[in-house]
Amino acid sequence: MLRAISAAAAILVAGLGVAFAAGKAEHPEDYPFSFESPVGGYDMAAVQRGFQVYQQVCSNCHAMSHLSYRHLGQEGGPFALYMVRNHESGEMEPHVGKPAHGGSFVDVTDNPYVRAIASAVTISDIDPNSGQITDRPGRISDRFRRPFPNEIAARASNGGAYPVDLSVITSARHGGADYVRSLLMGYTGEVEGTLYHNRYFPGGKIAMAPPLAEGAVPYADGSPTTVEQYATDVTTFLQWAADPHMEERKRMGLVVLAFLAALAALLYLAYKQVWRGESH
Ligand code: HEC
Repeated sequence: MLRAISAAAAILVAGLGVAFAAGKAEHPEDYPFSFESPVGGYDMAAVQRGFQVYQQVCSNCHAMSHLSYRHLGQEGGPFALYMVRNHESGEMEPHVGKPAHGGSFVDVTDNPYVRAIASAVTISDIDPNSGQITDRPGRISDRFRRPFPNEIAARASNGGAYPVDLSVITSARHGGADYVRSLLMGYTGEVEGTLYHNRYFPGGKIAMAPPLAEGAVPYADGSPTTVEQYATDVTTFLQWAADPHMEERKRMGLVVLAFLAALAALLYLAYKQVWRGESH
């Protein structure tokens, strides 16, 4: 009897050992992102910086085909433009991002920032006159430029691994934004052939070389140019991309709650009125 129990225990222990040896990924670090609270919005400066990180680093391998450049300048977007009256001079001045109060939204077709972002990109397209494929500057109506024409080309350039489209990555992965941020910071430094050890990737080894290096992307607003800051910013941008209407939805939720509270108060008063003087 005792032997049977110890044999069973040995099998159990061996089984657990195998499970761990297979490289169970660590639980992602829980980071207090601005958008996580029930009323929290996006830290738009972080979304702007995160776009810069995506554009300069990640977009060399990863597409974001659900997004067009014009989305960057729509209301609630990181480069949305507003005209705001300057209190001292009385003149209207452009302001990127929603101002604290007032300001009139500038249609994205008149947004020079988004135009500049789009036209800095080179897009391969069919020439309307010759029918040949030629390069042209991007337009705000273009989807984000794809780094590879198709999956085969993408794999061929990445040692057989596929750099997934990042349009909705924070919704597509268990752990969401925390997972993406942790993954970008989770490299141990160990390399095996073309695989890099990463504490948060299922299986423990990923074909993506560490994409972020300290100082690689210059920031104009004085934010630290560390791997952690880059990872946090690009994840905030990816979360906005996956859920651009979150702020509107949360605002709507508050309106609905206020309405329900007012309705409940009215119903209570009506009930009091109807039953006044009745014994029940
Ligand atoms: C040099 C090409 C390259 C660059 C640059 C790059 N990646 Fe990757 N990435 C890959 C490849 C290849 C994979 C697939 C890895 C695998 O399956 O092992 C990948 C996978 C991923 C994954 C998916 C992990 C999963 O759960 O499937 C995420 C998220 C990701 N990359 C984010 C980023 C971000 C954010 C950046 C920019 C900071 C970036 N990558 C830059 C090549 C790249």
